[in-house]
Amino acid sequence: MTESAVAVVILAAGQGSRMQSDLPKVLHRLAGVPLVAHALAAARSLEPEQVVVVTGHGSAAVARAVAGLDPEAATVLQAEQLGTGHAVRQALPALEGFEGKVVVLYGDTPFIGQDTLAALASHGADLVVLGFEAEDPGRYGRLVRGSGGLERIVEFKDADAATREIALCNSGVMALDADLLRQMIGLLTNDNAAGEYYLTDLVALARGDGRRADVVICDEEETLGINTRAELAAAEAGFQTRARARAMEDGVTLTDPASTFFALDTVIGRDAIIGPNVVFGPGVTIESGAEILPFCHLEGCHVSAGATVGPFARLRPGAELGGDVHVGNFVEIKNSVLDEGVKVGHLTYLGDAHVGEQTNIGAGTITCNYDGVMKHRTEIGPRAFIGSDTMLVAPVRVGADAMTGSGSTITEDVPDGALAIGRARQATKPGLAVRLMAALRTKKETR
Ligand code: UD1
Ligand code: CA
Repeated sequence: MTESAVAVVILAAGQGSRMQSDLPKVLHRLAGVPLVAHALAAARSLEPEQVVVVTGHGSAAVARAVAGLDPEAATVLQAEQLGTGHAVRQALPALEGFEGKVVVLYGDTPFIGQDTLAALASHGADLVVLGFEAEDPGRYGRLVRGSGGLERIVEFKDADAATREIALCNSGVMALDADLLRQMIGLLTNDNAAGEYYLTDLVALARGDGRRADVVICDEEETLGINTRAELAAAEAGFQTRARARAMEDGVTLTDPASTFFALDTVIGRDAIIGPNVVFGPGVTIESGAEILPFCHLEGCHVSAGATVGPFARLRPGAELGGDVHVGNFVEIKNSVLDEGVKVGHLTYLGDAHVGEQTNIGAGTITCNYDGVMKHRTEIGPRAFIGSDTMLVAPVRVGADAMTGSGSTITEDVPDGALAIGRARQATKPGLAVRLMAALRTKKETR
């Protein structure tokens, strides 16, 4: 075992024509995030010095997504897809001066485990290929082993009948010394059945140069690549099954696991309870003992210990719920911090707001945070009481221990301890309801 520096190259230039899509394949979502996010997360688990994503089809969109997901990762363009060897070659200028192991991953292969990658990256051989025993070897490249380890990889198209009998297949993931890669990549030719520069030919080239090549074997499940919508759906189902099992093993109660959907990075603490039909988008953390009631959608938010959310609530990015906060039915919260003990029970929108501890937000409250061009903030102090159906026209501030009258439209700041009423004064006309109804009925009869 050796511990050397690691760089990761992610191949993501292919069109993915079998997806039948205008969207580049690696931007299709699995577990709430683009496919390439899975490869980037796997790459990061190796604590690499560099990550380079090779883009081609839809390169601008892929590069934008990569920059958003992992700002440290570089992207390079492979203008023409001439094969996996050619693709890796495009990454070499970006790796200039790097010494250590280069790990090659595919952007459309989301499930390679972190332990598997670590075993690959720390293996002593000059070149290590991740292989698997295929149930149905189909059109995978075959791994030909000999006494000295891995001898060569033969692509299905170029394999004779005997080689096609081999069940040990190439996952496509490879780790090799950077100097070996630089020295050998120029020697690849496209003199083969596909007319492509095969990365896999590096094995025979390395062996011919007296280098050591070997295989690390993983479960076939880990090597699953996505080529069609059906495979994407099957991968999603597989991901969810594993995520549900893991959550329950970690002490989370899932009332109906089959209707609970996780994202790649969902984190839920012990003794949290998740009701049926709850969907977690990316970026959610739920602390121990919180409860999410049925039919909630959460994304980019944090729910603290003891908080309850839903049923039928939506927490959008930037929603931060403090301890024991209660968010009830038909409540939407975006980019807002709710301090400890805040109650927002019913039919409310809070956007770009901060609510101080123990404040009660009445039913039907709305922060009017958008003026059509810009977003504005609402500040509500601790222990305040916002009357039902209050419109808070931002920017606006409601002080500590302050109140607003029901049905108020609050356009001016409310000082600490004050009661603000902003609505038309009620006028009551004795007997008018009865007289008005009678007049209307007469009108209808004589029409
Ligand atoms: C490749 C392997 C094969 C292995 C299989 C596993 C080679 C020559 N063959 O075959 O041994 O069993 O993967 O799935 O490496 N890509 C680019 N640029 C290119 C070509 C490919 O970025 O010019 C990317 C694709 O987007 C894809 C990955 O590389 O993510 C693999 O390419 P693909 O064409 O699917 O390779 P296979 O023919 O399946
Ligand atoms: Ca493939």
